[in-house]
Amino acid sequence: MNDPVENAKRLAAFKAVDNHVVGGVIGIGSGSTVVYAVERLAQRVKDEGLEVICVPSSFQAKQLIIQHGLKLGDLEMNPNLKVTIDGADESDHMLTLIKGGGGCLTQEKILASCAEEFVVIADYRKASTHLGEQWSKGIPIEVIPSAYRVVYHKIEKMLGGKSELRMSGSSKAGPVVTDNGNFILDWNFEGVKDWKEVEITLNMIPGVVENGLFVGMARKAYFGMSDGSVMERD
Ligand code: A5P
Repeated sequence: MNDPVENAKRLAAFKAVDNHVVGGVIGIGSGSTVVYAVERLAQRVKDEGLEVICVPSSFQAKQLIIQHGLKLGDLEMNPNLKVTIDGADESDHMLTLIKGGGGCLTQEKILASCAEEFVVIADYRKASTHLGEQWSKGIPIEVIPSAYRVVYHKIEKMLGGKSELRMSGSSKAGPVVTDNGNFILDWNFEGVKDWKEVEITLNMIPGVVENGLFVGMARKAYFGMSDGSVMERD
């Protein structure tokens, strides 16, 4: 593989699956890095007869699981996950994450919270010391559509910064609609903050469904590097 970023994602994903999956119920995150984790899981099921049930965090993850012929589960039938493997938009040195670049943060956080271990896979561009160093698109916040405007103003008043309603782009006029039928606000913050406090403050605003700050949830992160190595953080 010639693309150094794709190569880095693949290395991180393969290492995480090899080190953390021994069978059982696995939470499958969303995004481009998770594609490689599902690929590796499918290889291991075929080669080693590994027995796994995969619980998806999104429509995308569900399609991936089906396409690779893996067993599909859900949280009603399988509420206790052995491990959840997911990407991140950015991770600081404490494994505090920004997630939701793909708009699936709510289900991703639920799956992370149900797992014995939450493992992050990413390429070298996502490893920071402090949040906001590499990721410039802000913190995604899923909101009830009718409340987006009031939530927008409340965030500005309570925490400062500026939010933007995420728009669909050329494929559809209007805002991005999540798998849950909600909108996404991307909140641009300044400086280093007490992220646990920010996470709680955001979720206290009526109309907020969930936010993309994952504080104290990740146990381990694998970052694929441009030189072909994998950096581990825990
Ligand atoms: C999806 O909503 C996100 O949280 C993704 O996990 C995150 O954006 C990482 O995506 P990539 O693996 O595509 O970088």
